[in-house]
Amino acid sequence: MDRETELALIDELLALKSTKSAFLDDAVSKNPVEHYTSSERFALEQAKLFRSLPNAAAHVSELPENGSFLRRDIGGRPILITRDKSGGVNAFLNVCRHRGTRLVDDERGCKHRFSCPYHAWTYASTGELIGAPHFDEGFPGLDKSDLALTRLNCEERFGFVWVWPAYDHGADSETDFGAYFDGLASDLEALGVAEMSIAAENSDVRRANWKTLVEGGIEAYHFRIAHRSTIGPHFEDNLSSYRTFGTHMRAVLPRTSMQTLTEQARDSWRLRDHANVLYTLFPSCQLLVMQDHIVWIRSEPLSAGETEIRLVTLAPASGADAEGKDQAHWKRNHQITTMTLDEDFAIGESVQASASSGANTHMLFGRFEGALHQFNRAIERALDG
Ligand code: FES
Ligand SMILES: [Fe+2]
Repeated sequence: MDRETELALIDELLALKSTKSAFLDDAVSKNPVEHYTSSERFALEQAKLFRSLPNAAAHVSELPENGSFLRRDIGGRPILITRDKSGGVNAFLNVCRHRGTRLVDDERGCKHRFSCPYHAWTYASTGELIGAPHFDEGFPGLDKSDLALTRLNCEERFGFVWVWPAYDHGADSETDFGAYFDGLASDLEALGVAEMSIAAENSDVRRANWKTLVEGGIEAYHFRIAHRSTIGPHFEDNLSSYRTFGTHMRAVLPRTSMQTLTEQARDSWRLRDHANVLYTLFPSCQLLVMQDHIVWIRSEPLSAGETEIRLVTLAPASGADAEGKDQAHWKRNHQITTMTLDEDFAIGESVQASASSGANTHMLFGRFEGALHQFNRAIERALDG
């Protein structure tokens, strides 16, 4: 973000703090509990959000050299991502074109040829079918060039490899990547994620709808209560702000230390030193920007009530934020993040269990939970569109 925006965000929060008020939406809103439990709704979200929109599948450092590959699940589909001989990134359905065996089982590795474990159809890292035993005899009239792996759109940008389908079983689901991040591109470039490295990570399956897990990060109403024995005391009570950028969002969650800026020269103000900045890149990629590092939260919905969450701590490789900090420092930070988010995710599971019981018909979002309302409105629009 530019300097003017950074100062304006600080000014806004300091003003709210000084008048003991919150960042308020116009009205209370409601969201049907069914949106968190219905399998029809889940199928629609998979098709229109997770299988149609750019999904941050990997950090660039996870494909470090030509021949690097890894696999991911995106929107319930198996995906293979490769870096080919020319250094370009490619994404394919990780499914053999013969009878549909999962082509690659290894989570990651380095090679340029992928041989199917069933009958050894062999594909290049650029997707072409380059070998198939007894092909001419068994498949007369078929052409190998028509049997390449199914290619998906793939873009290396902002430090991540983004994947989204070029097709969805005949339906055109083309998304213009540049337009998709319009308005946030300069913020994302400025984070310098491409130059960072993965310092620690962990994955877990949570028994909660993916939206509940996203929503847990974009309001500060719960901080002093749910996080009272971890980070709660370091953050302002029920104070946060947000802005939307199309379907995306940037939320700012100020620490109590922000107040000390009123006694410091304006030139020295740095938002990251006194607030967490949370980007929610639609639908569910979250970048939690902290003082000296970034936590990338990737969710892969498994069902209406289950989500796989991957937490990755990205650490700077050089510069003031890296100085004097060793691996132990980043691991410690990762642990604190994990412990705090575990508190959120455990509550998310509790919310999910009640939602499934049919006890309430709606979630209520208060005026200071406007970010949750906006997030759900963006989902509605995308599902309708
Ligand atoms: S299913 Fe892959 S070679 Fe037969
Ligand atoms: Fe939280």
